[in-house]
Amino acid sequence: MSSQNIYILGIESSCDDTAASVIHNGRILSNVVASQKIHEEYGGVVPELASRAHQQNIIPVVHQAIKKAGISKNQLSAVAFTKGPGLMGSLLVGTSFAKSLSYGLKIPLIDVNHMQGHILAHFIDEDGFDKPPFPFLAMTISGGHTQIVRVDDYFDMKVIGETIDDAVGEAYDKSGKILGLGYPAGPEIDKRAQLGNPKEFKFTKPKVDGLNFSFSGLKTAILYFVQRETKANPNFVEEHLNDICASIQYTIIGILIDKLKLATKQTGIKHIAIGGGVSANSGIRKALKDGEQKFGWTTYIPKFEFTTDNAAMIAIVGYLKFLEGDFADQDVSASARLKI
Ligand code: KG4
Ligand code: ZN
Repeated sequence: MSSQNIYILGIESSCDDTAASVIHNGRILSNVVASQKIHEEYGGVVPELASRAHQQNIIPVVHQAIKKAGISKNQLSAVAFTKGPGLMGSLLVGTSFAKSLSYGLKIPLIDVNHMQGHILAHFIDEDGFDKPPFPFLAMTISGGHTQIVRVDDYFDMKVIGETIDDAVGEAYDKSGKILGLGYPAGPEIDKRAQLGNPKEFKFTKPKVDGLNFSFSGLKTAILYFVQRETKANPNFVEEHLNDICASIQYTIIGILIDKLKLATKQTGIKHIAIGGGVSANSGIRKALKDGEQKFGWTTYIPKFEFTTDNAAMIAIVGYLKFLEGDFADQDVSASARLKI
């Protein structure tokens, strides 16, 4: 296969990042992301504004990705795009653009599941990063998702646990909002957590059966806690911010690690791969490394630019599907609630 020259253009537009990437065989040649700053003012993603920004960004982003890859668009072997899950208006921009491009260039079209993309990002050829062996457990943690997936082969995956309400990144962002931090709050809570005492304040972990998660109760607990404490001391948050952040982070990591422990016990699989924006978190990274010593896990964390929403992960899935001859028709449509 490696003697073939397969160039895939990947396009991602499921949420608030417009992204395009070119992959040559298994190796990324370019990975361009235009993040939409506009949502920061609103403390969360505004779907209407997201689709408009995608429309403005998509042509320059795709153009840049092809240019940075050092190829011409006529060398592309196929166009891969995110079919779902995500925001409908956002998905439609990438889907229709990819369809027209494949039609115009007379090359195959490949539809990609965004969640499979987060997982299969581990199969991008990248020096210094090992690929997980099958079977492995993938934990996808971001502002939009929280899942544990059993992966037996590239396209043989099963969701064995997921959130029943908020995603873990939302727990970070909504807690941050209560504390008066900017959006997204995950990185700042993480930074402050490293300076605070994780055991200073105690938040109870939700009781959810099996491998599912719940994060909405934590946000409410934090809200009541802050309201109660600021009544007694209006400067409470300011004076204890690092300890509050450390305690929130400690609780969240505890929830994630408890479920991973249960998942490894139930499946007997000890290879754990993570993805999604929250995998940048220093606490989760440390807890996973500790798990290698404590529980005999082997853990896989991809290069940062492949963990947050990006098109390289769409391009790698496109490449793997191309090898299998798994193409989409021109009548394919976006699907906001697409499942793995
Ligand atoms: O994957 P991503 O870029 O976009 C999606 O949500 O799909 O993830 C963004 C999320 C946000 O909720 C952000 O607060 C969180 O990832 N995040 C973090 C950290 N860096 C980003 N959460 C905790 N610790 C971090 N270091
Ligand atoms: Zn994502």
